Amino acid sequence: MNRRDFLITTSATALVPHIVLASAPVELVAQPVNAQILPEGEPATPMLGFNGGTPGPVLRARQGEVLDIRFQNQISEGSAVHWHGLRIDNAMDGVPGMTQDVVEAGGEFEYSFRAPDAGTFWYHSHSRSWEQVAKGLYGPLIVKELTLPDVDHDLIVMIDDWRMIEDGTLADGFENMHDQAHQGRLGNFARALVEPVTQVRRGDRARLRLINVATDRIFPVELEGVEGKVVALDGMPLVDPQELSGLILAPAQRADIIADVTSAAPISFVFPTRDGPYLLGEIPVEGANTTRQPSEISALTPNEIATPDTDNAVSLTLTMEGGAMSRRMMQGMMGGDIWTFNGQSGLTNTPLHRFERGQTARIHLKNDTRFPHGIHLHGHHFFEVEADGNLSAFRDTTLVDAGEARDILCVFDNPGRWLLHCHMLGHQAAGMKTWVEVA
Ligand code: C2O
Ligand code: CU
Repeated sequence: MNRRDFLITTSATALVPHIVLASAPVELVAQPVNAQILPEGEPATPMLGFNGGTPGPVLRARQGEVLDIRFQNQISEGSAVHWHGLRIDNAMDGVPGMTQDVVEAGGEFEYSFRAPDAGTFWYHSHSRSWEQVAKGLYGPLIVKELTLPDVDHDLIVMIDDWRMIEDGTLADGFENMHDQAHQGRLGNFARALVEPVTQVRRGDRARLRLINVATDRIFPVELEGVEGKVVALDGMPLVDPQELSGLILAPAQRADIIADVTSAAPISFVFPTRDGPYLLGEIPVEGANTTRQPSEISALTPNEIATPDTDNAVSLTLTMEGGAMSRRMMQGMMGGDIWTFNGQSGLTNTPLHRFERGQTARIHLKNDTRFPHGIHLHGHHFFEVEADGNLSAFRDTTLVDAGEARDILCVFDNPGRWLLHCHMLGHQAAGMKTWVEVA
């Protein structure tokens, strides 16, 4: 295969649409699939997927609708599906050993939940996720606003990387300790997967829903050929849409962009690397839209958000430690876990904290490691608190850089037992997880 397709060298081209459409009620069948990850003409890759492909089908609902999904597990080990970012009932959260039993090979599980928020979400396996997600068990879940923004296209762009071998198979070693102690399992081949599109013209306005589905890689993304704004992060509309520049997606994070196509050249998704720009994918542009009038890009209709009670907030600290070049590595060498939250690795019998329903908490996320971590809370979104104390984006996953700290503010109003973990799935595998309980 062409060496130039690989990361660490330069860029690659074509992108392959893998996404098929589906609508609720849905059968979601996890099964082995063959996917064309490498460019056409290169061998296909044996992977895992849903309903015959990876990514799995696009699940679409309108805000407030109920999704009924019959999950069938046709892979050779246990699995379960997590609906990432959806604020739904605990029993539907898809975490084996916490919210449900693992769905054994050959088994089934009925998921049924109301989609409370409009936005860009995704679903993925939450069973040995560092391997099952790396092998392709994920798909997009789109909840449409009751009042749709005025755009000509609504496109899903899933960004992933894979660790490929020349023969087209995925490298194994999904639990490689060296990876887990560093940034996680990073691929050597990356793509932006775009669903098949109706013809995009210069002058069109498009909504682009970017989802980082990689297990461990952080993607800074630059867009070429468009001008616009980021209008939502992790599914939740921004009060003030932000500039496109400086966009960074940690694993599991999403960004909704509304942008005008400004050039006749393809819309390009570029991943700037130390070795130069790497082209993740392109959307071809043909013809021109001469009827659309220029207009401001305005904020999306907000979802319902509980007001945090800052005065009476409980204060908690979550200190991240471990990883390569830390004392914890000795334990790792002897078969122990590599990463800790507050000195504790993996799930304990008692939660990090028990909240009264509706209680507000301010959590100080302190990264005392040499690696960035994307911290994800199940069942809730939280505000990122800026240095000046202002509340910024309302997210479900926040990136805390090496040696940095960030406060988040959360109203714990969804009863149940919820995971709080690093979404670098190799770190999660090596102990970087805890849980909270809401009474
Ligand atoms: Cu995207 Cu614990 O999940
Ligand atoms: Cu991490």
